[in-house]
Amino acid sequence: MATQADNTDLRNDGVATAYDRWAPIYDLVFGRVFKEGRNDAINAAEAALPDGGRVLEVGVGTGLNLPLYKKSTRLVAIDLSPAMIEKVRSRKAKHGWHNVEHVEVMNAQAMTFDDNAFEVLVGNYVVTSCPDPEAALDEFVRVTKPGGEIIITTRIGANKGLRGRIEKTLMPITRRLGFRTEFPYERYANWARANGQVELLENRPLPPLGHFSILRYRKSAN
Ligand SMILES: C[S@@+](CC[C@H](N)C(=O)[O-])C[C@H]1O[C@@H](n2cnc3c(N)ncnc32)[C@H](O)[C@@H]1O
Repeated sequence: MATQADNTDLRNDGVATAYDRWAPIYDLVFGRVFKEGRNDAINAAEAALPDGGRVLEVGVGTGLNLPLYKKSTRLVAIDLSPAMIEKVRSRKAKHGWHNVEHVEVMNAQAMTFDDNAFEVLVGNYVVTSCPDPEAALDEFVRVTKPGGEIIITTRIGANKGLRGRIEKTLMPITRRLGFRTEFPYERYANWARANGQVELLENRPLPPLGHFSILRYRKSAN
């Protein structure tokens, strides 16, 4: 159901290589920048999670999010980049994160999990890095249980004006770094309409500049 995917602008191997390169310095560069969104997403996930339920973290990166969850929250984490997943595994070993039940290199666009496997899915700053964002979003819905929540923090491009022009100009550079600067909200709205199984619960710009937003969807109950 990938209606607007532009599969030519990012490639899975290029994204994995880009984030393998980011892994050693990722926390230094992006640790603070994305802090607010991460906190909001984790709070939303905890609020939506029924007792005993599991959260799937897609595009977990170095695992900065993971200690923000309650120690009792059961977590599964995936990422396309082997170097990122290695970081998560060594942190889990070092800090004894017993609630992190499974960590795996996996492509969000073609997950190997069963349908309806998780009560809550969190995707922080990952959708705009996926070569086929709509395919990833469809997968988010597939693996989430009916009635479960899908919580996404994401870049939202301006798509017009000076910021829109800058974002377009930066695309050839940021694509090599593994993400898109140009990503209008309409892309989410069109995807949700085409997917037909989700209800938008929240679309809230994140401080300080509102260039990123938190989106919360509920998968329909039947
Ligand atoms: C900007 S980082 C965000 C990391 C983390 N969620 C955070 O909040 O810091 C994007 C992450 O998504 C991963 N990623 C990109 N495309 C992916 C895909 N198709 N499947 C799984 N992970 C992917 C990258 O490897 C990278 O670790």
